[in-house]
Amino acid sequence: MWNMKHDLFFLASIIDLDQISSFITDGAAIQNYYWANQFAYSLVHDRKYLHMWFSLWGVFHKSDLCEPLKKLSVFLPKQPWIILELACWRWHNSGYLYSHYPEHTYFWCDLSDEQLSYSPENGVVYTKGNFHDLSSFSSESCDVVFIIEALCHSSMKELVFKEVFRVLKPWWKFVVIDWYGWSKILSKDELKALELTAKWMCVYGVEPYLAVCDYAEWAWFELNYEEDVSLAVLPSMERLKRRTSWLWNLGMLSRNFFSFFPRVFSGNYVAAYLMPTLIVTWAAEYWFSVFEKK
Ligand SMILES: C[S@@+](CC[C@H](N)C(=O)[O-])C[C@H]1O[C@@H](n2cnc3c(N)ncnc32)[C@H](O)[C@@H]1O
Repeated sequence: MWNMKHDLFFLASIIDLDQISSFITDGAAIQNYYWANQFAYSLVHDRKYLHMWFSLWGVFHKSDLCEPLKKLSVFLPKQPWIILELACWRWHNSGYLYSHYPEHTYFWCDLSDEQLSYSPENGVVYTKGNFHDLSSFSSESCDVVFIIEALCHSSMKELVFKEVFRVLKPWWKFVVIDWYGWSKILSKDELKALELTAKWMCVYGVEPYLAVCDYAEWAWFELNYEEDVSLAVLPSMERLKRRTSWLWNLGMLSRNFFSFFPRVFSGNYVAAYLMPTLIVTWAAEYWFSVFEKK
C-alpha cells in the first residue's frame, strides 16, 4: 500500500512532474501560494488552522486539532507574560491559547497583510512581518516564541534562531512544530517525492531534523524537549489525501483539471497525495521541539 515508486508512477500518468524544477520558493511565491490555496484548505482541511492534527491513538478525531496547542501550553509561563507566535496564518493558534490563558499578551506575525482582516478584537496583537527580521521586537522582550509548520519555508533557519534568541528573555523557550526530511539514506524515488512535496508547498528544500537542531545550537539554544510526532500527524495527512483523492481518479477529467488550473493551486494536491507515504517510509519526519535560551 505504501509504495513511493507506485505513487510517483500514478501521479506522472496525470500530471507532468518534471515541471517543478522551475519553481521559485521566495517570499512573494509563499504569499501567492497561501492566497491561492486558502479556499481549498478551508474545504479539505480546516478553515482556521493549517497545521496537522496530533491524533494520539492513530485514528483521526476532530478534537485532535488543538492537540499541538495543548502540548505547547505545557511550556507557557505561569505568570502573565509575553507570547510571540511566528507565521500564524490566521490568529487561531494564539486565539486558542488566549481563550485558555487570557493572562498572557499574545503577539503574532505573518508575511501577509490579509491576515489583518481576521484579527480578533483584543488579547492578540497582529504585526505584519517576516520572521527573519524581528526588529519590531526589542531584545529580551518575549517569554515564549512558537512557530507551527512554517520554519520549513525558511532558507535561512539559522537567522530565525538568532533573531528568536535575541528577543527571548534568558531561560525562556522557542517551541518549533514542523516537518523535516531524510534522517536516513533515501532512495531515488523518495528523494524525488520529497523534492516534489517541498516545491509544491513552497517549502525551501526540506532539511533533516538534525541539521535544524544544529542551527539552534549554533545560535546558542539548548534542546530542552523533543518528541517525534510523525505517527501522530499521519491520520490527518491520510484524511487530507482521502479528501482530495477523488480528483486523481476521474481519468481524462483529472488530466484536464491539472492542466487547466495554475500549478500554484493544483500542485498542492500532489503534496497531499505524497505526504502520508513519505511519513510511513520515514523519508520525512514531524517533530515537536522546545529550545531553551541558556
Ligand atoms: C502552513 S502555514 C502556518 C500555519 C499556522 N502556523 C497554523 O498552525 O495553522 C505557513 C505560514 O507561514 C507564513 N510564512 C512563511 N514564510 C514566512 C516568513 N518568512 N515570515 C512570516 N511568515 C511566513 C505563511 O504566510 C503562512 O501563513
